[in-house]
Amino acid sequence: MQEKLTKILSEAKEQLEKATQLSEAEEIRVKFLGKKGELTSILRSMGKLEPEERKKLGMAANNARNEIEAMLEKKKEAVKGKVKDIKLKAEAIDVTEPGKEVELGSKHPITVTIEEMTSIFESMGFSVTEGPEVETVYYNFDALNAEPNHPARDMTDTFYINKDIILRTQTSPVQARTLEKEKPPIMILAPGRCFRCDTPDATHSPMFHQVEGMVVDEGITMGDLRGVLDKFAKDMFGSEVKTKFRPHHFPFTEPSAEMDVSCFKCGGKGCRVCKGSGWIEVLGCGMIHPNVLKVGGIDTEKYTGFAFGIGVERIAMLKYGIDDIRLMYENDMRFISQFK
Ligand code: DAH
Repeated sequence: MQEKLTKILSEAKEQLEKATQLSEAEEIRVKFLGKKGELTSILRSMGKLEPEERKKLGMAANNARNEIEAMLEKKKEAVKGKVKDIKLKAEAIDVTEPGKEVELGSKHPITVTIEEMTSIFESMGFSVTEGPEVETVYYNFDALNAEPNHPARDMTDTFYINKDIILRTQTSPVQARTLEKEKPPIMILAPGRCFRCDTPDATHSPMFHQVEGMVVDEGITMGDLRGVLDKFAKDMFGSEVKTKFRPHHFPFTEPSAEMDVSCFKCGGKGCRVCKGSGWIEVLGCGMIHPNVLKVGGIDTEKYTGFAFGIGVERIAMLKYGIDDIRLMYENDMRFISQFK
């Protein structure tokens, strides 16, 4: 028995020395100290021995068990320590490594264009305001003097949320909202997103941007409109560009016009950008219809005003020579990072 104990002890020692993993240590524990373990069976069989002998061997067996247990404990700690070392090494941070370069982002061409337009108009005294993108039929059409059967009201042109609520098709409702709450003199600029049921192609997108402008005060004339928009055109496209106003129709202005600029690419001779005409259409404008002023509670005997609406994408495309509007919504870094 004594011999057996010595053998078990040395075997356990040897095996534990070789063990490198917690699972191996556990196997060794089961093998020697488990219910059916080698040492356990010796302890069990001790009942058959003489008392004297039992006492002696019992002590030796208990010592052996304690020793194995202590070795096991030591091994476990060692293995755990090693695992920790490996983990620490793997997670170690090299503080001497040079940092990753942070790439500077660039502004989206639409943002760049809106900012440029805004700063031109701000320099003339306009202040920027905003209106909701989810708009009522009332502000988008009714308050803007659009006839009840105006084609733009059609479900095929406008995104309806319900019969009274739509995604605004233009930034013009901001005019109606501003007239309701402000008193002249009014000089506002309202950039923002608009929505129309358009199938995307090179020049159409169901979501696009406009910049709306409105001036209301005593004695405002078409001359003021022309002066402001001519200054805008020159600041935006170059001091040499000329402007021209063509009669047009919008429900909320009377008279209404579209403004063309002389082609800043060819100087008016005719090229691809101006499609040979020498002129490029850039915006809609007009003297605010008295009905619109009245709905907004403005005294039309005293006040007059003008308004304009500019398509931001169109301006960006002209200015940067972008030939497909869809490029502006794809967020391809190769395209988008060209604008600063
Ligand atoms: N809202 C018009 C459109 O989307 C653009 C426009 C034209 C706005 C004339 C105006 C304006 O304020 O006076 O086509």
